[in-house]
Amino acid sequence: MSYYQVKSLEQYFKHYNKSIREPRKFWDKIADENFTWYQKWDKVVEFDMQEADVKWFLNAKVNITKNCIDRHLSKRGDKTAIIFEPNDPKEEAQHITYNELYDRVTKMANVLKDQGIKKGDRVCIYLPMIPELAVTVLACARIGAVHSVIFAGFSASAVAARILDSQCKLVVTADGGYRGNKTIELKSIIDEALEKCDCVEKTLVVKRTNSTVTMKEGRDEWLQPLLDAAQPNHVAEIMDAEDPLFILYTSGSTGKPKGMLHTTAGYMVYTAYTFKNIFNYEENDVYWCTADIGWITGHSYIVYGPLLNGATTVIFEGVPSYPDFGRFWEVIDKHKVTQFYTAPTAIRSLAKENWEWVDKYNLSSLKIIGSVGEPINEEAWHWYNDHVGKKKSPIVDTWWQTETGGIMISPIPFVTPTKPTYATLPLPGVQPVLMDERRNEIEDNQVVGSLCIKFPWPGMARTIWGDHQRFKETYFTAYPGKYFTGDGALRDEVGYYRITGRVDDVVIVSGHNLGTAPIEDAINEHPAVAESAIVGFPHDVKGNALYGFIILKESGEDRNRENLKKEINEHISSHIGPIAKLDKIQFVSGLPKTRSGKIMRRILRKIAEGDFSNFGDTTTLLNPEIVDEIKNERL
Ligand code: PRX
Repeated sequence: MSYYQVKSLEQYFKHYNKSIREPRKFWDKIADENFTWYQKWDKVVEFDMQEADVKWFLNAKVNITKNCIDRHLSKRGDKTAIIFEPNDPKEEAQHITYNELYDRVTKMANVLKDQGIKKGDRVCIYLPMIPELAVTVLACARIGAVHSVIFAGFSASAVAARILDSQCKLVVTADGGYRGNKTIELKSIIDEALEKCDCVEKTLVVKRTNSTVTMKEGRDEWLQPLLDAAQPNHVAEIMDAEDPLFILYTSGSTGKPKGMLHTTAGYMVYTAYTFKNIFNYEENDVYWCTADIGWITGHSYIVYGPLLNGATTVIFEGVPSYPDFGRFWEVIDKHKVTQFYTAPTAIRSLAKENWEWVDKYNLSSLKIIGSVGEPINEEAWHWYNDHVGKKKSPIVDTWWQTETGGIMISPIPFVTPTKPTYATLPLPGVQPVLMDERRNEIEDNQVVGSLCIKFPWPGMARTIWGDHQRFKETYFTAYPGKYFTGDGALRDEVGYYRITGRVDDVVIVSGHNLGTAPIEDAINEHPAVAESAIVGFPHDVKGNALYGFIILKESGEDRNRENLKKEINEHISSHIGPIAKLDKIQFVSGLPKTRSGKIMRRILRKIAEGDFSNFGDTTTLLNPEIVDEIKNERL
């Protein structure tokens, strides 16, 4: 019997219990039965959770792209691997077969090699959601280069910080990208970023928008002529199980982004296994995840997970509101999408429009619908269930993180009964625990606590690029011997998990994980600003929005406040990206601080939420009088 897919609740519990009793055997079987290896492992897992040291499938040799592409060619060569749905509905969709994907990836692999890229080199990918993005990701994996995809909404200085951190040698970008009725000039953003990045030797540019760009002699080249001249075959590099596959940056509680490093075999096994179980993929299904490949959801569930399973995966360039609020639903009917995976913020933004936009579409192809990235509130869950799933397609509310590589807690469709707002049960192989304030494991049900994972799983990140100490301190120190997720959760009477949100200084805005510290750092660089504190507050569509409490320098005191607010947001936009802009800015004369100088964010959060009922213990505050002042002037 294969452990790869759970088909009934009984089987789920059987596998789950077995996966806890004998985790090595459990993963050994899954890895053994479902992939192509050059060489199998000597040992399934070796770990020291105190030291944050984890290795899976030791000494195995593999190439993930052989598993994503080559092994499907005999059976599925003419099957569509990728459907590309352009931003403009009038532009024709592309259907890229597995054979064509092989050609495109191997040609791109040869281009990268010709540019001097070798195994272990880092390649930055800064592209819009076009097929070249997936192709470049796979081409890197093919030759053993480490891809670092940077979301094409980040500003030049955010891009530069990421390129420098991982010392990328080459950048693949485009002249520009379309997003709804806007064009984003990606090449000029890269030009600005590269002024600060000496490590980059070459830039390859995809032509997408035909925008006018400056090509720097000796550094920049158009990609297409190189592809036209490249050979359409390539022998995949033999990778060790623990060789780096990619770096993906996520926000942390200091200004420096964390480059989460994922390695080859464990990530492959984990994304393939979770994709199969959670999306119940069957041979002729058309699967669509609306995330951007610049985030982990796109890595694991647009590119790797689906292709490892020989699936047809949709890449959508556009946005849900363009040309109108029916776009998602129109695309589902057009391509007969069977699994649809999106974010609560998108659901909420569409639910607030006229429901005609969704109700006029048929959507009868849908079998499973999913949600990811932040807690889905009850109202949005029901709207999604009623109008999109038509009460027949189960909602998989999937909880996971950039750090976990793949889905950890989620219903298995047609197996786990769903419950609104609950991510429900851990996948077999995943061992979540809730911890109390004294750092003890809470055994009972109907409890709340900090969510940790107590046994390694193959998809977990192995380190933060260049800073293992930070990795250890961030995830493995608060609860020694366990991985700390940074999330709080409750467990109900039957053992279902509901994620309640972050317990650290990360705020999830429209599904984007934003550390408050980097935003504060950016604001504090504004010449008129002395100090700032950012907190999240509930927002109908975005889930959370950002509220900034800002102290001005004396020199800033006479400035026009509205102009300052605009400038501060422009400053954030150019330092981080428009996603990190503040919804509300309140200028204050001080911030509530403890005697040790730490800002008491708990109080600011309550004020931002408009909840003045109980600020908790304020006796340790150095300046308790400031609380009333801030409260009275709340926006
Ligand atoms: O707080 C949790 C929230 O998103 C965080 C991870 O963000 P990121 O690394 O950007 O990855 C997002 C895509 C996997 C988590 O720590 N989160 C993610 N999924 C859910 C969620 N919160 C509640 N329910 C979810 N289904």
